[in-house]
Amino acid sequence: MVEQVIISHSILVKIFLVFLLAGFFIPKMTAKDPLKFRKASFIYTMIFQALASMIAFTGLVAMVMGDYGFSLSIVLMILIWGAMMFIEIKKYKVIKVTDVQDPAKHALLKSLFIKISSVQVLLVVAMVVLKIMEAKGAVSL
Ligand code: HEM
Repeated sequence: MVEQVIISHSILVKIFLVFLLAGFFIPKMTAKDPLKFRKASFIYTMIFQALASMIAFTGLVAMVMGDYGFSLSIVLMILIWGAMMFIEIKKYKVIKVTDVQDPAKHALLKSLFIKISSVQVLLVVAMVVLKIMEAKGAVSL
């Protein structure tokens, strides 16, 4: 049973990674329409938070069911999760309150979006690589 929850957790992490990669197209696809950029960012942040919540939920259920306790790897996952949520919420708040119609600010927000997505992809990939290395016995977390 706990294996199934971990598989769901793992699949959700992969879906999340694909979603984050797809997000790189948002600033490009809405480059000519700043209001569309803001709207797309809103939909993006909603899906981001829904997927992240599902990851945390399956992770917490697995943690309790599997009696894992707070191993270093789980603490790392929780920290990465918290950092990603924090950055995402801050990012959307900035996009929401900034005058996107101003071309200079729109350009700034587009590059902020790309930079933050890069950091988020990096964090998820790093965690996945760590878990693979842990499973192979290359590291013990
Ligand atoms: C509240 C947040 C989270 C909790 C409580 C949590 C908990 C867990 C637990 C209990 C396991 C199974 C035991 C283990 O392998 O240590 C696991 C596996 C895993 N988690 Fe998380 N996790 C969380 C967030 C994340 C995040 C944000 C990522 C990605 C960045 C992630 C990536 C993984 C991966 C790749 C595995 C290995 C899955 C496998 O064995 O196929 N987790 N997590």
